Amino acid sequence: MTPIGAPAYEAPPAPTSSSALSHIPGDDGWPILGHTLPLLADPKGFVERRAQRYGLVSRSRAFGHSNVSMLGPEANELVLLDPQKIFSSGLGWDVILGRLFPRGLMLLDFDEHRLHRRALSVAFKAGPMQSYFTELNAGIARGIAQWPRRREVKFYPLIKQLTLDLAATSFLGEELGAELETIKQAFIAMLAASIAVIRVPLPGTRMRRGVLGRVQLIDYFDRQIPLRRERGGGDLFSYLCRATWDDGSLLSNADIVNHMIFLMLAAHDTLTSSFTSLVYRLAAHPDWQEKVRAELGGLGLAPGAPLPFERLDDLSLTEMAFKEAMRMAPPVPSLPRRAMRDFEFAGYRIPAGTAVNINPLYTHFMPDIWPEPDRYDPRRFELEVSRGRHKFAYVPFGGGAHMCLGLNFAYMQAKCFSWHFLNNVRVSIAPDYQPEWRMWPIPYPRDGLSVTLSPV
Ligand code: HEM
Repeated sequence: MTPIGAPAYEAPPAPTSSSALSHIPGDDGWPILGHTLPLLADPKGFVERRAQRYGLVSRSRAFGHSNVSMLGPEANELVLLDPQKIFSSGLGWDVILGRLFPRGLMLLDFDEHRLHRRALSVAFKAGPMQSYFTELNAGIARGIAQWPRRREVKFYPLIKQLTLDLAATSFLGEELGAELETIKQAFIAMLAASIAVIRVPLPGTRMRRGVLGRVQLIDYFDRQIPLRRERGGGDLFSYLCRATWDDGSLLSNADIVNHMIFLMLAAHDTLTSSFTSLVYRLAAHPDWQEKVRAELGGLGLAPGAPLPFERLDDLSLTEMAFKEAMRMAPPVPSLPRRAMRDFEFAGYRIPAGTAVNINPLYTHFMPDIWPEPDRYDPRRFELEVSRGRHKFAYVPFGGGAHMCLGLNFAYMQAKCFSWHFLNNVRVSIAPDYQPEWRMWPIPYPRDGLSVTLSPV
């Protein structure tokens, strides 16, 4: 077994040069820049145009690296299930997240990853989830009560602030006191740095502020770990402080800190993005907004009451509405990997070292699988309609060994949000309003999404 802390492979293969990929359809784009600019400008259109021109497997060059794009459910299945342990998630994500989020779960591989995932899973079992849910109910109700009514507001900044506040309480506990603001600011600096164009922490750059934010968070977590171990607590951080390896020994401070910082990243932007998509779709489709509100009303609870944990499974229409919003704007639109060994796909031999990408965003719009893919229709997720659909056609949470560990957390929070939001407000948009979505690195409306919230 690979020792904890050591990489799960000996020496990673060197990144593949574009000449080693010349047998794969595609091109290198512009000198130096490759395809970086068109990819950034319109990631969905870029991938669709290349699929049309070159097919489901093609090579391109962006951010200084050659990579092979593998599209469609079969590619998703091969890469995500990865029975032969070919694809390194760590080396794929390291380019983007390595500096600020080293050794987060998604950046570990194979045997080592399995051990860490098992240790972390304790914080995602039913008991801890119920405890986070109590905090979420209270925090969401409090947050939404403060949102303005009867005038146009930008929804994206409101929800971003709310998910940050919720992460602070459900992840870190109520008793942050005076440190709350420092921690939030440190985390915001890290989030901004994770998508910064300049990747070196030069003075005055976002990356520099992100690196300093990380130092502040490490300091806070390090001080808190012994206290949390002593006094317990029902927040995610306290559960991780008590988490153990298979032999019963506790995780090291460094492991807890790395996992906590990564978990905060993994949860925050994804929830913000997916809730924004959901609210936009419900505003644009008042019929669906009413259907979901009727389902929530059908629970027979007082409107201001907390949503009981035991009733989460009774909200199937709410879940379908959320799933369809994520189909159209998957919060993680593409997933990077690096091949550790040569492999074959669709008749092409792809050498070890190649950076490969699979693409939930492309797959979620394939018209053979999703008729009229631009139409919002939650009924696609009814049992009858989904029967026979490829298991890897819908992958907002990935799949296989690295499948999102927070999936149930995300559904739970989405339902709790819908309960408090739709019980309190009716959301609408101007009739001709079509916000432009930026799809990369995480989908969000460029203008912040203008909506009007009226009392129900
Ligand atoms: C709508 C919300 C969310 C979406 C769409 C989402 C999506 C994803 C995806 C696609 C991956 C796999 C990436 C890959 O294979 O390369 C992933 C991994 C992960 N997510 Fe989420 N996520 C969401 C919310 C959350 C939340 C709330 C948490 C924590 C509470 C979380 C924790 C994680 C962790 C720890 C991993 C790494 C799993 C591993 O490598 O074993 N996510 N997520």
